[in-house]
Amino acid sequence: MADGDAKVQAQYEAYPYPAREPGDEAHRLITGSPSHLLEIEHFVLAGGRAQDLPKGNLRALVAGGGTGDGAIMLAQQLADRGPNSAGGSVTYLDMSTASLAVASGRAEARGLTNISFHHGSLLDLPKMGWEPFDYIDCCGVLHHLAVPGEGLAALTSVLTEQGGLGLMLYGELGRTGVYPAQRAIARLRGDEPADEGLRLARRLVAGMPAGNWLKRNEHLSDHLAGDDAGFHDLLLHSRDRAYLVGEIAELVAGADLRITGFLPPGAYDPGSYIDDPELRTRAAALPVVERWALAEEMSGAMKTHAFYAVRQGNKTGGAATGFAPSMVPVLREMSAERLAASLEKSPRLSAELGGVARQFELPEGAAAIVALIDGRRSLRQIHGRLRAGGTKLAWPEFEVKFAAIFAVLHALNLLLFAGGKAV
Ligand SMILES: C[S@@+](CC[C@H](N)C(=O)[O-])C[C@H]1O[C@@H](n2cnc3c(N)ncnc32)[C@H](O)[C@@H]1O
Repeated sequence: MADGDAKVQAQYEAYPYPAREPGDEAHRLITGSPSHLLEIEHFVLAGGRAQDLPKGNLRALVAGGGTGDGAIMLAQQLADRGPNSAGGSVTYLDMSTASLAVASGRAEARGLTNISFHHGSLLDLPKMGWEPFDYIDCCGVLHHLAVPGEGLAALTSVLTEQGGLGLMLYGELGRTGVYPAQRAIARLRGDEPADEGLRLARRLVAGMPAGNWLKRNEHLSDHLAGDDAGFHDLLLHSRDRAYLVGEIAELVAGADLRITGFLPPGAYDPGSYIDDPELRTRAAALPVVERWALAEEMSGAMKTHAFYAVRQGNKTGGAATGFAPSMVPVLREMSAERLAASLEKSPRLSAELGGVARQFELPEGAAAIVALIDGRRSLRQIHGRLRAGGTKLAWPEFEVKFAAIFAVLHALNLLLFAGGKAV
């Protein structure tokens, strides 16, 4: 193993990241992006269900699975779809045995039987002889490799033709201040071992002057949370780099893949940061990668970029688009009843996107439509229910109304198409 890789491995043996306690599984499931099952169905399977894949379930790989956040979330969501891996299975891979021990402890605490744990490097995937995967998660890992493109190529070598990836890479602008701080710490730390380096670094950070860019960056808090793993990962990492979205687009294209969406979608829409009508029109006319780049430049808060990708040649998969009557909308991590009740009181929603607090307004009648979203009913069935309930709304009007609801809730990553093929 190359010296640089050995240093990264040693760090994750000493400081499994993020710090997690298997006992905590008893009272909460950590969810997030990428690799939420509903997101995979929306951004990779074009709104279809995992159960409708050719083999009848989803075969997923979590590469660089760490202490298990992505693997545990996905395995639990698949297990919730039905007994005996009816929804699918997860293969976990990491080169840190300490991280693997935490992740497998969490799976055990939950009684999950649909994860298999493997120790090793994702760079060896092409020679492992594993069957291809429908979905591959690689969250916060590629930016620690000597050549991230090699890692992405290794992942793609075990991806099915119709499969997709959920990736997270560091964002350059949101991490403003991290790299000068890393260099300052490295200068003073010299050859001190990890725990001594940590002690010195904490002292240096505690005494940083007000103008220091790390201190000024209100979006970064991992080093303030108190745990050593978070501090070490942010400021004492032996190897990491950050990306602008344009660089991510190049990396992804280099592996013959295409991006199907960044999360939350609204944070990557320049319209979220620009109110001037003339500038908004100009921004809307830009090609998609430039729109994403402009959003990143305007926000300044994106410290990570989570996104999905499929093969360039995959014409049927990717993100769900349009509002065909057969599509099945689903709320992500939100009860339709509660959202509908809140919209009944006020059509306005407050939320933060890309570091900016914003207010959104949903169209009249949104509460009645939202109340009917259950992840099983298609748009046609929702429309039919509304009409049966006495709402006189022709399909074209319904579609316009639904599009307006979708524009707000999807921007916030609250509404997806993921129940597939219900008619
Ligand atoms: C920042 S942690 C992210 C963990 C997890 N994916 C998450 O998002 O919570 C990075 C993980 O990648 C693993 N890793 C780094 N390089 C790797 C490689 N070449 N093969 C397998 N795992 C690797 C590390 O051991 C570490 O557990």
